[in-house]
Amino acid sequence: MIEGIDPAKVPRHVGCVMDGNGRWAEQFGLPRTEGHAAGEQALLDTVYGALDLGISWLTVYAFSTENWRRPSDEVRFLMNFNRGLLRRRRDELNDLGVRIRFIGRRNWRVPRSVLREMDSAEALTKENTTLTLTMAFNYGGRAEIVDAVRDIVAQGYRPSQVNDSVISAHLYQPEMPDPDLVIRTSGEYRISNFLLWQLAYSELVFVDEYWPDFRREHLFEAVKLYQGRSRRYGGVKEQRSR
Ligand code: IPE
Ligand code: IPE
Ligand code: MG
Repeated sequence: MIEGIDPAKVPRHVGCVMDGNGRWAEQFGLPRTEGHAAGEQALLDTVYGALDLGISWLTVYAFSTENWRRPSDEVRFLMNFNRGLLRRRRDELNDLGVRIRFIGRRNWRVPRSVLREMDSAEALTKENTTLTLTMAFNYGGRAEIVDAVRDIVAQGYRPSQVNDSVISAHLYQPEMPDPDLVIRTSGEYRISNFLLWQLAYSELVFVDEYWPDFRREHLFEAVKLYQGRSRRYGGVKEQRSR
């Protein structure tokens, strides 16, 4: 185990808002898209770090429902880039025992060629059990809640039947546990519509590195901070048993 990390208190589910690709590129006078390309290494290294730690669920924010507002060249690049990333990396991830899944709106704007690649990565890796890598793609926390409410209404639930568990059960991946730890890179202190329902009690860690510079060591540091936190869920600090 990694020095300073308690193996008994490793978070089960870690989320990453992979931010700062554009600024990383701009500091070298490169086009923003070079930053997205450089983020691939960071993602792979983070997956290896999660495997080193025995984390079971890793969810990464790859494209938001608001990212369509970007210039069309950048949006097109991101669609092609993510399709390419899945094609390039799915065998390596499969060999590592990673199960690839997606959350987000599939039936809205995503090109068919990207959907095909997503389906094939999911199908190839569906039996894997070491780590579930969920890519939030064309994902928005509000859109997810809207989609859940639409389903619930369509299924004819009565108001008194709707509760937390019903809403959780209608999210994109109902079996995904809530994240214990969410890391955002690039020195921005906001959520930007990531997993709004699920992160009610997540621990948040903000790091200054731009995403392309993020490596497993930064993940380890974030886990150490997480392990120093006291999670109370609205209650009081756990008492030591006598
Ligand atoms: C994150 O990096 C990647 C995506 C949102 C797709 P950005 O592209 O947001 O980079 P900055 O935040 O503008 O530097
Ligand atoms: C969040 O980053 C979305 C992803 C990392 C995919 P953004 O760069 O889109 O968020 P804002 O615009 O800074 O809030
Ligand atoms: Mg950004």
